Amino acid sequence: QTIARSYIIFVYLSLSLQVKKYLKPFLLSQEKLQEISARLKKNMIQGLGKHTHHKAPVKMLPTFVRATPDGTEKGDFLALDLGGTNFRVLYVRVMEEEQKVLKMDSQICAIPQDIMRGTGEQLFDHIAACLADFLDSQNLKGQTLPLGFTFSFPCEQIEIDKSILIHWTKGFSCSEVEGKDVVKLLRDAIHRRADYDIGSVAMVNDTVGTMMSCGYKDQSCEIGMIIGTGTNACYMEEMKNVKRVEGEDGRMCINTEWGGFGDDGSLEDIQTQFDVVVDKTSINPGIHIFEKMISGMYLGEIVRLLLVKLTEDKLLFKGKTSEALLTPGRFETRFISEIEEQDRGLKNCQNILTELGLKWDSVDVRLVRLVCDTVSIRSAHLCAAALATIVNRIRENRGLDYLKTTVGVDGTVYRKHPNFSDKLQAMVHRLAPNCSITFLVSEDGSGKGAAMVTAVAHLVLLTLNCKLTQDQSM
Ligand code: GLC
Repeated sequence: QTIARSYIIFVYLSLSLQVKKYLKPFLLSQEKLQEISARLKKNMIQGLGKHTHHKAPVKMLPTFVRATPDGTEKGDFLALDLGGTNFRVLYVRVMEEEQKVLKMDSQICAIPQDIMRGTGEQLFDHIAACLADFLDSQNLKGQTLPLGFTFSFPCEQIEIDKSILIHWTKGFSCSEVEGKDVVKLLRDAIHRRADYDIGSVAMVNDTVGTMMSCGYKDQSCEIGMIIGTGTNACYMEEMKNVKRVEGEDGRMCINTEWGGFGDDGSLEDIQTQFDVVVDKTSINPGIHIFEKMISGMYLGEIVRLLLVKLTEDKLLFKGKTSEALLTPGRFETRFISEIEEQDRGLKNCQNILTELGLKWDSVDVRLVRLVCDTVSIRSAHLCAAALATIVNRIRENRGLDYLKTTVGVDGTVYRKHPNFSDKLQAMVHRLAPNCSITFLVSEDGSGKGAAMVTAVAHLVLLTLNCKLTQDQSM
């Protein structure tokens, strides 16, 4: 048995040396990450500039959110959450006295692929129908409740309830929505049905909602970060640096849309051949290059492409692929988390490979785990570089030697991957040594988090009173 074990280790070591050649482009040194952070910083400044923002790949969208919540808001709301893995409808009560957000009830609606890629009218009719079902089940159809809409796509906010979609990201590509006011499309769909109505609407990006709902608990939360289906962050920027918006005093929350980093070709040096394929075969080639190297929608596919290549080059599965392995999208991102689990990882890996119709041996299993590790560490390190850019900027903005701050975080990759958060935190610490960062994961995934996000967002947005400069009008 000892001989057999030593043999396996020997084969693993010699094969892994060859596999590592394929993985090398995924390894980013601390110096490289610093360089990437410096590039992102330049892009962020470009995005904030009055005359440079039009062409900026990192959009730096003003949200008109001026302050983090003070915990005294209250009321009953409806909340919609569109843009992650599911579409959710919620009924929420915010209690002033206890500073509590109660999720009264909620419902998850699937959005079928044909609707995600159909017409805008179909999408909003579907959303309005889900909301109608929910209101029926709650006996709420007679009421006109205010609605908080977490819409997790890049939008140019024109007014509290007017928000123009710049372009779709992630899995959506509905026609006739880009360049239009999403709130109006929702209202129109509700009016077409004419069986219920909604009150005032507030739209927020999920990053902003996450920052605000964490800010509800921790006043020093001034960054919101999502690493889920997509990736993005927002943070409180000094008004004097937000050149597109009138006013010099105080701060405003900026939705960075950092997923768009690299859309001008600036990340070509670190894009691997696998990243290039993921982008080219996606529904929106050339858009959100950084996101495509990091987020849940793409990580599984990067791993799959690597496994296919390694098999074709006879380094895995004795050179035999399977139909499932050759099918785009079949290697799910959640498999990576399962395979990297500390105790059950290898067993999980065996089951997954069997399910994918592959004939594996114990060396294959270890090599697959190595591939998963490498791809998820790169993702965590790229996020760390981006987050470090933000905390370093906040520190410099305020002329501080040392910054203590809190980041509100959400997203399936951050929550579910067994060591993603550790890797990310360790690298941010190295890239931003003069900052101490507390990471606050927003409430559980049962929908309470989303409820809190939209309820708090709603109230904060309703108190906005900021005007846009001429330059902003589109
Ligand atoms: C995509 C969207 C962005 C969102 C992020 C996380 O990057 O463009 O708005 O915040 O996904 O959901």
